[in-house]
Amino acid sequence: MLVVRGSREFLLAPGDTQETDLGILDLPADVTPGTVVETHLGEPFEVRRLRGPDLFDHLERTGAPMMPRDIGLVIGHTGVASGDRALDAGTGTGVLSAYLGRLGVEVTTYERDPEFADVARQNMETAGVSTLVDVRTGDLTEALDELDGGFDLLTLDTGDAPAAVERAPDLLAPGGFLAVYSPFVESTRECVAAARSAGLAEIETLETIQRRMDFDDRGSRPSTAGVGHTGYLTFARFLPSFE
Ligand SMILES: C[S@@+](CC[C@H](N)C(=O)[O-])C[C@H]1O[C@@H](n2cnc3c(N)ncnc32)[C@H](O)[C@@H]1O
Repeated sequence: MLVVRGSREFLLAPGDTQETDLGILDLPADVTPGTVVETHLGEPFEVRRLRGPDLFDHLERTGAPMMPRDIGLVIGHTGVASGDRALDAGTGTGVLSAYLGRLGVEVTTYERDPEFADVARQNMETAGVSTLVDVRTGDLTEALDELDGGFDLLTLDTGDAPAAVERAPDLLAPGGFLAVYSPFVESTRECVAAARSAGLAEIETLETIQRRMDFDDRGSRPSTAGVGHTGYLTFARFLPSFE
């Protein structure tokens, strides 16, 4: 759960102790969201339930996590929903997997770095989705032959994504979706080529750019800070023909 006071935010478990500049916080073992707890100096902090964006801000980071806005596009474009099965790689910090798990999606996710995989498993516990998200230590491209297939969604956030894209028809259920995130246009182009050669349908790449709006006394306009680019998302579907 999140323990908050203004800009001070701590991700804690019941029973944890946290030193703050306002004193020491001892979180009771039976603490519930909505409670106010005080430091030993009597300074109040609010206890909140962990929500999706808190995962991005507070999970222990390993591989660069996907940003909530990109995750929103994946969810919106694929319609992934409770009861669906998703195959994901690489797990990295596990932010995408945790978001999917919180939707009620059953996720099988591969992380080739054993230490990253251990951190991701702990992150899934923190996110409360360890029963839905199965973090497997290993390289997805080497595990492809062992997988049964029938996944509703295949999400890839790895440099070697094209190798898995080529196998998407073996992995996806009819009508299932592929979503590949890439920070670079070169690897995006390779994924599009792999999706075409695999015979996937409805191939579409979107660059994700968001402009924050500034409102002040002088007027309102998009923020002048940065272009807001995060990366490219390529979507495609497995639509086998029954002619
Ligand atoms: C950018 S991070 C993924 C972040 C993740 N989508 C998230 O939201 O937290 C990429 C991760 O993929 C892992 N990786 C790269 N290639 C892989 C592969 N073929 N199989 C499994 N993991 C891989 C890397 O070790 C790294 O941790």
